[in-house]
Amino acid sequence: MKHLIVLFLLAPLAFAADLSGIWFHSTKAPDGHTVKMALVLTQTGTQLTGKVKLPWGDVAITQGSVDGNHFTLTAKESTWFTLTADGALEADKLHFTVHENNDKPYDVVAERTKTDPFVIANIATPPPVKDLAPNGLAKTPPMGWNSWNLFAGKIDDKTVREMADALVTSGMRDAGYIYLNIDDTWEGDRDANGVIQTNNKFPDMKALADYVHSKGLKFGIYSSPGPYTCAGYEGSYAHEAQDAKTYAAWGVDYLKYDWCSAGRLYKDDAMQAVYQKMGEALRSTKRPIVFSLCQYGRNDVWTWGAKAGGNLWRSTGDISDNWKSMIGIADRQSAIAQYAGPGHWNDPDMLEIGNGGMATDEYRTHMSLWAMFAAPLLAGNDVRTMSADTKSILLNKEVIAVNQDPMGAEGLLVGKIGEADLFARPLNNGDSALVVVNRADAASAIKLPWSEMHVAVGSNVRDLWKHEDLKAAADQSFTIPAHGSLMFRMKAPK
Ligand code: GLA
Repeated sequence: MKHLIVLFLLAPLAFAADLSGIWFHSTKAPDGHTVKMALVLTQTGTQLTGKVKLPWGDVAITQGSVDGNHFTLTAKESTWFTLTADGALEADKLHFTVHENNDKPYDVVAERTKTDPFVIANIATPPPVKDLAPNGLAKTPPMGWNSWNLFAGKIDDKTVREMADALVTSGMRDAGYIYLNIDDTWEGDRDANGVIQTNNKFPDMKALADYVHSKGLKFGIYSSPGPYTCAGYEGSYAHEAQDAKTYAAWGVDYLKYDWCSAGRLYKDDAMQAVYQKMGEALRSTKRPIVFSLCQYGRNDVWTWGAKAGGNLWRSTGDISDNWKSMIGIADRQSAIAQYAGPGHWNDPDMLEIGNGGMATDEYRTHMSLWAMFAAPLLAGNDVRTMSADTKSILLNKEVIAVNQDPMGAEGLLVGKIGEADLFARPLNNGDSALVVVNRADAASAIKLPWSEMHVAVGSNVRDLWKHEDLKAAADQSFTIPAHGSLMFRMKAPK
């Protein structure tokens, strides 16, 4: 009887799993790159704590529990990333399904390992900082197209070629959009000599670059100073000079270099040196390559981005295709306007115009503001199937001329009238540009005090959206649609 009681007490314990330890999952994705993930778990009774480790960084488990062999966990990174996993321990392997944000769920099989696969021994010391001489590129803000906003991980050779054709036939190239930039997810693994390979979506990068060049366009690519990119593909850490040489051999004209997993290795105060390392590597190739820094505006990048060799630097986090995101980014530009100029630009992120998440009036505001901010104009829409509205926005030559003004003075917020924001920008020939944004959720009538803006009543003002001249009148009122804007070019006062 006594024995039976002991057995009865032990039985549940004998079958309860202990998930404590490090679990590693590594597999080939359909595109041929290696996908990696680890769980570092501590089990206390039925509670699970620890971290989910993804290539770009670690995310703390905020809730985790075990029930027999089954487990569930949630890991959260502030508001922008949530991962849940649920599954079971079977034959000493963790089988589970992962949901990341609203992405398609995927299945994982993780095995026990003794060491953390994301820990890098002997982290390279970045070079001592110095001021790199300007590379002479991007005298006006770069213009082109980038794959991320619309295609994310679904970009491939065929789509890039079609986009190259469409940039030409749509008139985008001739309007100035000349860089065709492939963002994240082109990367494969490295060969035995450490040379970066493309994955199977990009069979021959040199041939693709040649094709893009044959269309009178320039060719851009993407990497990270960390071991992995933000999408978990191979980064350039410890291969900077080698990768710069590979890019130059392929015919790359533009590199976007995205912090991502570099945050595993370095604190933010090392950013300048880490970026400078690639800045120097690119210069050593002797090929003119525009260098785009992407570290989300951290560590006051505008004060050192150009010294590290950057031609542009992201000033904020990622844009999303909605009004709140776009206007929130716009609100953070005026404070840093003084740091932009020919060869070195603040980058409020790529355009969402034509991607469907904003109203046409909102997209017009997006374009007007990016023109005022002397922002890089990197379209992110499907150029093959642009609507007439999208074309009229992206191809507005008078607005583009403001963006590309050779003086390169970034416009800023100069005043508010009710719920309207007024942005002004001086231009090279003495003219100035004015954008009035109606932030209200309804159409509003705005009276423009021309005399306060040094515009003489009776003088001509160019309306850059209507493409017509109007006469400035005292107490002139304009009705602006919800989230819409006006954009004017004013002659220099005589
Ligand atoms: C980061 C960048 C984006 C894009 C993705 C790619 O989020 O800020 O612009 O490049 O990475 O993974």
